[in-house]
Amino acid sequence: MTVDATRTTESSPGDRRPVRFTEPALAARAARVLRDNDTGAVITAAPRLYPHMWSWDAAFISIGLARLDVQRAIAELDTLFAAQWRNGMVPHIVFTDDDAYFPGPDRWGTDTAPDGPRNVRTSGICQPPVHAIAVRRVLDIARRSGPNDRLDAERFARRIWAKLYAWHRWLVEYRTPGSSGLIAIVHGWESGMDNSPRWDVPYDAVHPGAALPPYVRKDVRLVGDPGERPTDREYDRYLWLIEEMRRAGYDQRKIVSGSSFLVGDVFITALFAMSCDVLIELGEEFGQEPEQLADLADWAAKARAAVAGSCHSVSGMARDRDLRTGRWLDTQTIAGFSPLLCGGAPDDVQLRLLSLLDSDRWCGHPDLLAPVPPSVSPMRPGFNPRQYWRGPQWPVVVWLFSWAFERRGWHERARKLRDGGIRLTEDGSFGEYYEPFTGEPLGSTDQSWTAAVVLDWLCGF
Ligand code: SER
Repeated sequence: MTVDATRTTESSPGDRRPVRFTEPALAARAARVLRDNDTGAVITAAPRLYPHMWSWDAAFISIGLARLDVQRAIAELDTLFAAQWRNGMVPHIVFTDDDAYFPGPDRWGTDTAPDGPRNVRTSGICQPPVHAIAVRRVLDIARRSGPNDRLDAERFARRIWAKLYAWHRWLVEYRTPGSSGLIAIVHGWESGMDNSPRWDVPYDAVHPGAALPPYVRKDVRLVGDPGERPTDREYDRYLWLIEEMRRAGYDQRKIVSGSSFLVGDVFITALFAMSCDVLIELGEEFGQEPEQLADLADWAAKARAAVAGSCHSVSGMARDRDLRTGRWLDTQTIAGFSPLLCGGAPDDVQLRLLSLLDSDRWCGHPDLLAPVPPSVSPMRPGFNPRQYWRGPQWPVVVWLFSWAFERRGWHERARKLRDGGIRLTEDGSFGEYYEPFTGEPLGSTDQSWTAAVVLDWLCGF
């Protein structure tokens, strides 16, 4: 694609934003964001707000990088997996030396964690397992890009497979407590959807103790409007859970048995099922052990069954489960559509979900700037169009649905999501998330993962 970073077109009628870049210009800007956020060692998640490497960000970033430089994409995933804990966990943050982010490595206190990596500082929790999906995508892109890229990516996929398998095994071994079969999280940050209303009920049971060491938030100073970020009350709970983990010495069994937050996450479970499928495909291609492929098939089947088993009998929406109380969590958010990602739900449930997704409660809401799903239905009480995971649209989530729909053979649906994602982001700011009615970019701008998925959409196949 020829790129001209300066070309814009007129705003379309009804567009509430002043600038609209042509696709080649948008691609050039996305590439520039990824290059500008490259410290030489990692691509930071965003320039100021997130000056480190985040686990699922890095996965999406590698997909965008593969469109520019396959070697650099491989290096990014290698850097992340060099920080993999010895028990298999892939940590949610790999810290750079920048101290502009809180909580930093000292607050996490993982340096003495028995399973922690050596020579690199990380947080002590994980994030959604989308890495196998990223490896698959990097490989597919490299194969179309030329023989050298293809060889490098194939070598890389063969080499990283065992690490991905160990990561998946860790999730099964440590994070499938109880009988729901859902993968459990011990912190809302593990879901990636930090302050989603999905977690409001379980967080109500998290009571920060007097022993919570004092702290000063840095995030609220770095966004234009602190109302776009989680509240202080939410932060107290986030920090308290870290305190609990430190006290448990980052022993996973102790954390899972004692943490005041333990929730079966249906969205992660669906992503896990898809990632297991991908790992099986890669494993078959690269001659991995049949026993390990059988494990992955078993884990994928169980995860799919858990997602299908969580669906509400009337709405069809998938639900998380509070594993401390055994209660289903009925908040209707984007995660309710998880069965559409991984499949496995009965046909009538799937049809209900597809028609709900198209309805005016979700993508068909007449006031949306772009017809892609917001994080919470605009019709739900408590929907907040500006606050993080309580309403805004997130381009990476749109990418995940478009990728999954393409794999499921729903090409037209995948195309519509891709077009909607580009519509949302064509102002060229690469917001972290967007106000669904005005398309205003919120949180950080020049967010790497947004630039990465837009680049992937624009480069197509
Ligand atoms: N997303 C979190 C933050 O906002 C950390 O994972 O800092």
